[in-house]
Amino acid sequence: MSETVLLVGGGGREHAIARALADSDADLYACAGNRNPGIARLADGFESLDATNSTAVTAYAEDVGATLAVVGPEGPLAAGVADALEDAGIYAFGPRRDDARIETDKAFQRRFMEEHDISGCPDFETFDDVEAACEYIDGYDGDLAVKPAGLTGGKGVKVIGDQVTAEEAKAYLRDSDYDRVVLEERLVGEEFTVQALVANGQLRVTPAVQDHKRAYEGDEGPNTGGMGSYSDANLALPFMTEDDYHEAVDVLKATVSALGDYRGVLYGQFMLTADGVKVVEFNARFGDPEAMNTLPVLATDFLDVLVAAREGEDLPKLSFASKATVCKYAVPEGYPTDPEAGAKVAIDEESAGDAILFFASVDERDDGIYTTTSRSFAVVGVGDSIAAAEETAEDALSIAGEEGLHVRHDIGTDDLVQRRVDHVQELRTGG
Ligand code: AMP
Ligand code: GLY
Repeated sequence: MSETVLLVGGGGREHAIARALADSDADLYACAGNRNPGIARLADGFESLDATNSTAVTAYAEDVGATLAVVGPEGPLAAGVADALEDAGIYAFGPRRDDARIETDKAFQRRFMEEHDISGCPDFETFDDVEAACEYIDGYDGDLAVKPAGLTGGKGVKVIGDQVTAEEAKAYLRDSDYDRVVLEERLVGEEFTVQALVANGQLRVTPAVQDHKRAYEGDEGPNTGGMGSYSDANLALPFMTEDDYHEAVDVLKATVSALGDYRGVLYGQFMLTADGVKVVEFNARFGDPEAMNTLPVLATDFLDVLVAAREGEDLPKLSFASKATVCKYAVPEGYPTDPEAGAKVAIDEESAGDAILFFASVDERDDGIYTTTSRSFAVVGVGDSIAAAEETAEDALSIAGEEGLHVRHDIGTDDLVQRRVDHVQELRTGG
């Protein structure tokens, strides 16, 4: 039976999901607030709607006769879009709102880890009173990460001793209107992501990826949703061992088993520290950009995973091409603090050369493709080594031009990768 899949969301991650489904035996429909030209070209129908509006999404799903849905971003999951689709009898690959709290409520997430004795949890305290949190900062011996409990698009966390001083962190809390915050031990090390496809109590893991949160080259500047990322031709990354990777997978396994009947993607953000692998956070969806590294090398038909999930069957074992990937985002000048929207984007699939082009938060109108205030498009190079993949991504960017856009050209370069390797070496030897 052929399937009709509704894809919810219009970013780079969703373009990667659409591409993964495009060659399957599925009719693809998509809906999002922005008209993503990459998704629109792959889909039989594209509806512009607010993807957090459960009623509108469900009505569109029913309209197109969806037999499956994939919910890409966290916003719709937090709004209960998966629950609404399920109520309408449409299987959604994406957790229900309660299960998505593993991402959407950082206080819940840390307590959950503590209650279920999941390894890798840093010391933490949760607060619903800003002054009590400030007092805790004053009395704490060491650096803390200050994290609003709710969703902030990856931009709400402030790390004392890294981005801010203790005084600045307190001022940040007092000036903002977060009603709940988590304060936790600052983890020092190298970050990496491992994503798992989860359903029916099973999980299938994907290769590790390293994202780059900081806006500017050399890891300077404010945190962003992620400026780009790379993965290697095997499961681990150059700065980590296979054992480190498996330690992270064990954390994901323990989490899935504690969550019960979670379904969708469970994304673990890990920090490889001198004391082993620690959990920075969980997300209830594919990473963006990480999905753009992972899905292009997934050799297993993604639709087969979705159908097995819905049917309550064993999930297929995943296989991956032995290729490295490098993803570089082009974002509006001034992103993330003061982004300039409305620039025309000239790149198209042909001009990306050997790289894969993923459109993100751009909007296609009658007279062209325009940037919004969020990330615009990404190019992904796939190659035998990280260096080869990096070169392919850079070639695409040089052809496309970057007028009005900003790119972190250092992502995936030998220099930056070597710095990660040296950093971990230094931590491990106590240097
Ligand atoms: P999150 O929204 O939890 O992913 O946090 C955004 C970024 O803040 C992470 O990718 C880390 O770079 C940083 N971060 C979060 N928690 C910690 C922590 N406990 N120690 C150090 N850095 C952290
Ligand atoms: N790459 C970080 C995220 O998707 O949250």
